[in-house]
Amino acid sequence: MNPANSLVAPLAKRLEGKVALITGGASGIGEATARLFARHGAKVIVADVQDDLGHSLCKDINGAEEIVSFIHCDVTKESDVQNAVDSAISKHGKLDIMFNNAGIPGNMDTRILASDNDDFKNVLDVNLFGAFLGAKHAARVMIPAKKGSILFTSSAASVISGEIPYAYTASKHAVVGLANNLCVELGQYGIRVNCISICGGNTLVEEGNGDDGEEEGGGGGRRGGEFERGGVGARRYS
Ligand SMILES: NC(=O)c1ccc[n+]([C@@H]2O[C@H](COP(=O)([O-])OP(=O)(O)OC[C@H]3O[C@@H](n4cnc5c(N)ncnc54)[C@H](O)[C@@H]3O)[C@@H](O)[C@H]2O)c1
Repeated sequence: MNPANSLVAPLAKRLEGKVALITGGASGIGEATARLFARHGAKVIVADVQDDLGHSLCKDINGAEEIVSFIHCDVTKESDVQNAVDSAISKHGKLDIMFNNAGIPGNMDTRILASDNDDFKNVLDVNLFGAFLGAKHAARVMIPAKKGSILFTSSAASVISGEIPYAYTASKHAVVGLANNLCVELGQYGIRVNCISICGGNTLVEEGNGDDGEEEGGGGGRRGGEFERGGVGARRYS
């Protein structure tokens, strides 16, 4: 197989010159994505509520240059999301990749009668409303630029039912719907929209299995397809 076509362990810097904003970037999948994107030449802005962790991640990744920077951003607050997107523009002049990754599991009880109403609203606020705000503000700067890539982290909970908390399941189903709709609207501007559905545990990017947010083909890429690899499913829309 031609290594240039492989999704595994790409050798070249595939994101040279790109600017990426990652919500929930201070830990877990977001952190691993920040490291991978930086390794591939992207300038990365980590947006998270965990300030200390975010700053120490930047310190760890950055050498002499400031490749990765941190901004405090609670994705449930529109002013924070707006500020994070605007800071990408003021710092780097553009935003190529918006990764709406911040998410919380919420209360782990899977019984409907034990589901707490406030917890339900909180999970929807972070996982869905936060993703909506991220997409909205990314679109605000990407539409005039007529390019960009918007990514979401959904979950296998968007396709598997049972024994998963109701709030989490509902939020991740809704994220898929959000991505579906966005790709129909934003494809005309050359903006690609992809949603990654992870099935528990492994950090996709460390295994080299994930979508790094950038690939050849601009806005006219694959539509409606799906791939699964090592517990990661990615719906590719536009
Ligand atoms: N790890 C898995 O097995 C798995 C499986 C399916 C889906 N996911 C999804 O992947 C995403 C990342 O999860 P993870 O496993 O890396 O978890 P994680 O807890 O390590 O990372 C989530 C990050 O989101 C941040 N965050 C939480 N609330 C926020 C808010 N209001 N504003 C900004 N940032 C906020 C946290 O501080 C944290 O850094 C989530 O959307 C999660 O639902 C994870």
